[in-house]
Amino acid sequence: MKIAVLYQSVRGGTKRAAHAIAKNFQDKGVIVGIYPVTDIDAQFVLSADLLVIGTWTDGFFGLGAKPAQIGKLNTLPNISHRKTALFVTYEIDPTKSLQQFEHWALDRGADLVGKQGFKVRGPFRKDIAEEIESFTEHLIMSNATTKSQ
Ligand SMILES: Cc1cc2nc3c(=O)[nH]c(=O)nc-3n(C[C@H](O)[C@H](O)[C@H](O)COP(=O)(O)O)c2cc1C
Repeated sequence: MKIAVLYQSVRGGTKRAAHAIAKNFQDKGVIVGIYPVTDIDAQFVLSADLLVIGTWTDGFFGLGAKPAQIGKLNTLPNISHRKTALFVTYEIDPTKSLQQFEHWALDRGADLVGKQGFKVRGPFRKDIAEEIESFTEHLIMSNATTKSQ
């Protein structure tokens, strides 16, 4: 199984989350390529079984939250009919940014197989290791199930 983890980060929180996700997949025996969305290996991305795409939550901390820098994500290769999982990092609430990110992926015809918010900063910062574990576990299981059908 081959997975491409693609992320957009400015201050490093989303990059750290993406690397933790990639390491978790690798520990499970998956071949992983991890790239900032502005510098991908197109050949690897096109041949991956699953794309995991992440960005951060932008807004006014509670108001008008949205997935950040969607213009950069728009430069990715076509994700139509590709198995895709999404994640956002956030400090207050990931709900709206995840919803809009999901619309973005569905508008592009992606086969959405998972989505998750990871709180990487701010008060009550959670230990995201367990959330990453359940995120990757779910994605591997759903990929295995679809392949055996
Ligand atoms: C300009 C700006 C606006 C933000 N707005 C929100 C927001 O509305 N809701 C939220 O939960 N987090 C918000 N955040 C927090 C970021 O989503 C969070 O810190 C994220 O992990 C940053 O990712 P990065 O370190 O990869 O750049 C905002 C951060 C910045 C810099």
